[in-house]
Amino acid sequence: MIHKIGIVACSRWLCTSHSKSVVMRIPVSGAAGHGSYFKMLSTSPTRQTVMPAWVIDKYGSNDVLRFTKNASFPMIRYPNEVIVKVHAAGLNPIDLSMRGGYGAATLSMKRDPLNIMQTGSEFPLILGRDVSGVIMECGLDVGYFKPGDEVWAAIPPWKQGSLAEFVVVSGNEVSLKPKSLSHTEAAVIPYVAATAWSALVNTGGLNKDNCAKKRILIIGASGGVGTFAIQMVKAWGGHVTATCSQNAEGLVRGLGADHVVDYTTGDVAGQLKALEKFDLILDNVGGDTEKWALGLLKPWSGAKYVTLVTPFLLNTDTLGMADGMLQTGVTIASKALKHLSKGVHYRWGFFAPSGVALDEVCEMVDAGQIRPVVEEQFTFAQVPQAFLKLEKGHARGKTVVNIVSGDTQ
Ligand SMILES: NC(=O)c1ccc[n+]([C@@H]2O[C@H](COP(=O)([O-])OP(=O)(O)OC[C@H]3O[C@@H](n4cnc5c(N)ncnc54)[C@H](OP(=O)(O)O)[C@@H]3O)[C@@H](O)[C@H]2O)c1
Repeated sequence: MIHKIGIVACSRWLCTSHSKSVVMRIPVSGAAGHGSYFKMLSTSPTRQTVMPAWVIDKYGSNDVLRFTKNASFPMIRYPNEVIVKVHAAGLNPIDLSMRGGYGAATLSMKRDPLNIMQTGSEFPLILGRDVSGVIMECGLDVGYFKPGDEVWAAIPPWKQGSLAEFVVVSGNEVSLKPKSLSHTEAAVIPYVAATAWSALVNTGGLNKDNCAKKRILIIGASGGVGTFAIQMVKAWGGHVTATCSQNAEGLVRGLGADHVVDYTTGDVAGQLKALEKFDLILDNVGGDTEKWALGLLKPWSGAKYVTLVTPFLLNTDTLGMADGMLQTGVTIASKALKHLSKGVHYRWGFFAPSGVALDEVCEMVDAGQIRPVVEEQFTFAQVPQAFLKLEKGHARGKTVVNIVSGDTQ
């Protein structure tokens, strides 16, 4: 299996490294006048100019969601991009937060770092971070994929999302979809997989060769990230302790958790302190958890606490880019130093898009080591109901939206 993964990664490298094209920034303003540039970057001319999508034109509650048949058709702006026809989209808590304006300062800057957008606005904005679908068109530098390939991807929050008929992603964010899953099942996985992979592998230092017998604590294990993380750690031979509420216990045990602690029964910290100490903690809940969780790690052994709940975007929203980043730097440095003096590592985990990580996840899915946990399915016409479901909280896996052309009011 290791050999096969190596070939996949290598093929991606070979396909892009042979390209003679230079990735170039195409001016967006006056897009109509630059039609010939866009054709030069892709394998076929764009045939449509508009598409159906759910958009928001301002931040707010559910009433800002608007269905339109006239959203701009996505264009290939870099030669390493592909256009995907969306068959299913997954929703995550970040979509709910973004609908309300969370992260707007940082994400807007990331969308348009040189401030050259014609409108100077991020709107209309399309939400939806997971996509499973079929490649419709490839940029000229894309050699690993071709039109007609069934793919999945986690779309970074600074890009237009998947609640639309088509979406553009880069070739290095996309991956061939697991053959054993339908598009609806596949759309549950990419964003939480890319987040859990980034937190556990890139930040936590876990991999399939060093995970065996390690003791991993997953706090908030019944949600999207937690249900994926349990399965990934179990596939690599680790020992999983999971915290969740009582009615999710059957789910997390069914996914492989070795020990489950119900945080609703009272003293969760006390119950966890009675157990053998941990090599790694993945915290999907944050807040007060930080006050007691680091004491559960094995000191002076390289043990790490990785939390996905960080103040980074909130700081830049409230303090502005410069002060927000400064404040963030001070916070992480002081916390990391404080805990290092006690012999444990304190880290922040972040979503990171990665087609190569999804290639590995695809193999695990097709090998039966990871299964999708679909909480509830909605049609394209029911996107507002899907957001209301997210708002209610208490996720048991993921919310997914099936996108079928014309399936709207
Ligand atoms: N930093 C990043 O780049 C990044 C990326 C993705 C996600 N995140 C964050 O990571 C967190 C998890 O994401 P997700 O998609 O898994 O969210 P989710 O699907 O909403 O799951 C959160 C889970 O936590 C459980 N929970 C709530 N309070 C708890 C507590 N005190 N103790 C134990 N469990 C508790 C909830 O279920 P029950 O209480 O019913 O068991 C729920 O299953 C979210 O805060 C999200 O914003 C951050």
